[in-house]
Amino acid sequence: MSTKPVIAIDGPAASGKGTLARRVAQAMGYALLDTGALYRAVGLSMIRAGQDVRDVEAAMAAAQALDADRIAELTADPALRQDETAQAASIVSAYPGVRQALLEFQRGFAANPPGGAAGAVLDGRDIGTVICPNAPVKLFITASVEVRAERRFRELGGDTAGVDFAAVLADMRARDERDTTRAFAPLVPAEDAVVLDNSELGPDAAFQAAMDVIRAKL
Ligand code: CDP
Repeated sequence: MSTKPVIAIDGPAASGKGTLARRVAQAMGYALLDTGALYRAVGLSMIRAGQDVRDVEAAMAAAQALDADRIAELTADPALRQDETAQAASIVSAYPGVRQALLEFQRGFAANPPGGAAGAVLDGRDIGTVICPNAPVKLFITASVEVRAERRFRELGGDTAGVDFAAVLADMRARDERDTTRAFAPLVPAEDAVVLDNSELGPDAAFQAAMDVIRAKL
């Protein structure tokens, strides 16, 4: 059985990994899975159902209830990108039962990329460490918390939209703290990951640096 190449792109919130993953997938002709969207979908389905995200059992049930159709529906919902959803995702993603429920979907995507694509790009927090530990290419994308908060602030509309930078920065720190200190699948670079700090790099330079690594590895 031939296995298709997987490019694992991990990193903290607003590190630019989503944009990078999209460009890499397009350049390589690979299928793309934004795994953060799956955790956001769990959080959003709970918010929609009026459930408390601190309810571990309910979170697990919400994750288990996600099939491809429900994922498509929730990921198309504009509320998926809201900060409230991100915070909910960051809470439910710490529950082992939730991560377990989403594991098979992610591995299935990597093994059989949709549309018969030649390979898959998965972006997330634990792709290189837990989901696809044998991925031939592992990138860990990072940037300083201030730079990431600034990016997220602009994404949310900045001053004109009445966004409070201090609040965005505080949320970013809270999410980093939860993502890196949770007991199960914390956010850490895989031992064999190439770390790219893009605090000083624009999207084009980050893409070139990533493609250099990919060409060298594949
Ligand atoms: O886009 P952003 O980086 O802000 O967040 P995201 O990638 O959409 O992920 C939302 C939340 O889901 C993160 O804060 C993580 O707690 C969680 N997550 C995770 O635990 N594992 C993944 N593979 C992806 C996301």
